Amino acid sequence: MHASAQPVGPAGNVAGSPGAATALPGYGEKLMAEPHLWIIAAVVLLLFVSFLCFRHFANQLTGKLADPGLSEGTRFDLEQARSTAIASRQASKFFGLLLLCGYAVYVAVAGTEMQGYVMQWLNLAVRWTHVIAGIMWIGASFYFIFLENNLNRTEDLRDELAGNLWAIHGGGFYYVEKFKVAPTVIPKPLHWFKYEAYFTWLSGFSLLFIVYYADAKSLMVDPTVAALSPAEAISIGIGSMIIGWLVYDGMCRSKLVLHQGWFALVGILVLGVITYALTHLLSGRAAYIHVGALLGTIMAANVFFTIIPSQKALVRAAKTGQPLDASLGKKAGQRSLHNNYITLPVVFIMLSNHFPSTFGHSGNWLILMVIAVASAGIKHYWNLLDRGVKRTWVLVVSIAALVLLSVAISPAMEDTVDAAVPVNFAEANAVIQRRCVQCHSANPTDDVYVVAPNGVMYDTPEQIKAKASMIMERAVRTHTMPLGNKTGMTDQERTVLKRWILQGAKLP
Ligand code: HEC
Repeated sequence: MHASAQPVGPAGNVAGSPGAATALPGYGEKLMAEPHLWIIAAVVLLLFVSFLCFRHFANQLTGKLADPGLSEGTRFDLEQARSTAIASRQASKFFGLLLLCGYAVYVAVAGTEMQGYVMQWLNLAVRWTHVIAGIMWIGASFYFIFLENNLNRTEDLRDELAGNLWAIHGGGFYYVEKFKVAPTVIPKPLHWFKYEAYFTWLSGFSLLFIVYYADAKSLMVDPTVAALSPAEAISIGIGSMIIGWLVYDGMCRSKLVLHQGWFALVGILVLGVITYALTHLLSGRAAYIHVGALLGTIMAANVFFTIIPSQKALVRAAKTGQPLDASLGKKAGQRSLHNNYITLPVVFIMLSNHFPSTFGHSGNWLILMVIAVASAGIKHYWNLLDRGVKRTWVLVVSIAALVLLSVAISPAMEDTVDAAVPVNFAEANAVIQRRCVQCHSANPTDDVYVVAPNGVMYDTPEQIKAKASMIMERAVRTHTMPLGNKTGMTDQERTVLKRWILQGAKLP
């Protein structure tokens, strides 16, 4: 790695080497010393047993399905049960192997210079999966909403049709028909959209562990917000997702769901309370991502618990010639519509990581709420427009809210009265060398960040000057650096940096 040829940094030693030539522990020793070994072993065993059980169920059901005398209804139920058993079998196998291999690698690299490197690739692989699955999910969902809003519902339609649509894409002509209820015969290859949602959620949940929970001390906890232990912070994060889902699901089961406007208002209030609580318990960045994770969980759970089961019930009724229960389609439709509005806020939150001026601001909870409501407003305008209703004011108000927000939180609105006290480079550099180079150096001494994060290093005056505006953003305006304030930076030190940068970031 590029760090090896560099001289040792000002902070001195290389992490974790006291100097004496002690032999490194072997793999077996490291494995036995691992505090979570037995928990992991138990989970892997559990997954293995469930793999065997589901395999057994699936085989049994295949046997039963061979009976030609089954009624349509029974056949449908057995087929559904079998496909669930097969999916569960595959999932047990996949996660069992993943955990086993992942843990084996973890034990091998933990505490070595390979740890940060391996975590980065793991992060990349899972994040990649997450983004691809998310694009497929949201892409399909936007496409169907577009379809629904743009169907020709009046001209030249057969009786059984609700609408149709001609489209041209990628050099081909496409013709789509939507049925009023269901076709008389349910076609054999019937395409379902569900794994996109499940994989987005599973990969997202894994990312929470890889990125946030694996380094909870620096990423979840901010001692200036609340003095929590990493375990407490993680419990709050996961708890907020469970509570948030239960509240939302309760709202959907109550009469409130019949009044769309009130439902939206109560939903926004509840989200506001949760966001406020999280931003006052966790670091800004972790609070944001957990609000996003909660909203994403609601979306995926809507697919899993309501939309897919309702669709299954509809297909079953159509196959067995029973009357269709219209309330099922309606319930699925409501949840689908909620998902549609939640999409834009979730995508913003997932990107917010790159924008410390949002999550790092002291009013971060309000900023998140304004962006969430305004982006749902933009989606609302767009949905109405697709249906031929033009409500320009919805768009104008939403965009105006975003512009006003960006002005309200800009540095121009902050007081700079103390900027005049002169500060020279030596003083600013002393702060950086005391609080930043543990990570941002060619030779970091931090236990987690063994390579300079994002390649940002502050070893020379030129490197510091080149990054002055970023230092202002992360260490002065937002307190998002040092990460989790791991190196204990004080407000006075932030002021020193602020003065030096506002006075032109001059080198001697
Ligand atoms: C504990 C390790 C750690 C310490 C100490 C630390 N940082 Fe960082 N820094 C990181 C990590 C990890 C990232 C990348 C993730 C992110 O942007 O939040 C980062 C990113 C940054 C970035 C953004 C770089 C980019 O390309 O977006 C800046 C600027 C920065 N740090 C400045 C500072 C300053 C100034 C200090 C000292 C006051 C400091 N950091 C102390 C770990 C640290």
